[in-house]
Amino acid sequence: MTEKRLPLSSEELTKLANRTGTPFHIYDGKGIRENAERMMKAFSWSKGFINYFAVKALPNINILRLLKEAGFGADCSSGPELRLAAEAGIAPERIMFSSNDTADEEFKLAFDMGAIINLDDITHIDDVIRVCGRLPETLSFRYNPGKERTGNAIIGNPVEAKYGVTHSQVIDCYRIAKENGVKHFMLHTMVASNELNEDYIVETARMLFSLVNEIWEKTGIRIEQIDLGGGIGIPYRPEDTAISFEHLSSRIRELYAEMIERKELSPLRLSFECGRCITGPYGWLISKVRHVAHKYKDYVGLDASMADLMRPALYGAYHHITVIGKENAEKDHIYDVTGSLCENNDKFAIDRALPEIEKGDLIAIHDTGAHGHAMGFNYNAKLRHAEYLIKENGQIDCIRRSETYEDYIRTQLFQPVHVDLT
Ligand code: LLP
Repeated sequence: MTEKRLPLSSEELTKLANRTGTPFHIYDGKGIRENAERMMKAFSWSKGFINYFAVKALPNINILRLLKEAGFGADCSSGPELRLAAEAGIAPERIMFSSNDTADEEFKLAFDMGAIINLDDITHIDDVIRVCGRLPETLSFRYNPGKERTGNAIIGNPVEAKYGVTHSQVIDCYRIAKENGVKHFMLHTMVASNELNEDYIVETARMLFSLVNEIWEKTGIRIEQIDLGGGIGIPYRPEDTAISFEHLSSRIRELYAEMIERKELSPLRLSFECGRCITGPYGWLISKVRHVAHKYKDYVGLDASMADLMRPALYGAYHHITVIGKENAEKDHIYDVTGSLCENNDKFAIDRALPEIEKGDLIAIHDTGAHGHAMGFNYNAKLRHAEYLIKENGQIDCIRRSETYEDYIRTQLFQPVHVDLT
């Protein structure tokens, strides 16, 4: 069970909403920092342990700075994410570039800035050599175990997934890399997303430890770091239970002793690329009820839409909803909670039991601190909304302003530019 708390009292949230307008995402800075530090401490037995925070989960420079202070690096999947991580002051050697279907310019940027490149495909070895002149001294490969593992709905079944090098390719990848001057080798995988079953993560560690052994036996190459990717889940539903970093870490440590230390393959650094379990539970989307409509079903229409949080519409994902000020009222009404897009799947919840809702009520949608604002878009010319951060001293900072109409049209050319093909 997980208590669904709010970051501020009902009165404070109401005051804030009245002051700033709605909707907005708000993050609990202290909660994020303490959570990040808890992870670092839990895995501190692994010398040099690092979590490269998945920038895609919450790409706001203020959050990246905060996580850097807690000892995190950054995991980037595109050129702009690389630039943002660098701008947040994260040292290049603490930036992991885990991309797929990668553009030449992105390899070049990652190479030039000195980030760790994690290759998603065997053909990318040649791409990097062609674009950068050589391979970097440190190189990682993303492994796809195929039918050895099952995957899950968000990330896909490994056999069907577009990511990573296969078992039959992985040994060749390391051999070729070595022949081309790579000195330090890393191994990465990402086989689950939003996984709450600890066994699954432990099995991923076992799989990589075993592959480290196989690579050593077949090539004489010592892997120096394994990256278990992201994918640790969070308790979106009150009845879910979070994964304990401490417990997970102690189980991986046991495996490490048995499969790495005993085989004299240590030291082998451990890393993750977790985004969701770091910031997810520390974000809320605050929105106001515009309408309560009674049709064939009862609808609550919010001033937020799936352009602010698309997870429910995209994955059918559950996000808990609290009606602010009615926390203790009986949930004796059934509503579909919708946004205002011209899309009938623009729903935050379907058939959700909630207290009776009136126009003007303030709603908190929980666990939006990862893959929330980040997945926003502009369909129906919806302007993207602001983000706020509650700092350690209680001060509330605006860390992203709302878009304006001028932002929205900034890239449209009112005077079209002619494309000259001569
Ligand atoms: N590293 C790689 C290579 C990834 O592909 C991902 C997420 C992560 C790290 C971070 O995963 P996390 O720890 O945040 O689960 N938009 C989806 C999740 C997409 C997952 C894609 N990759 C969602 O809203 O659930």
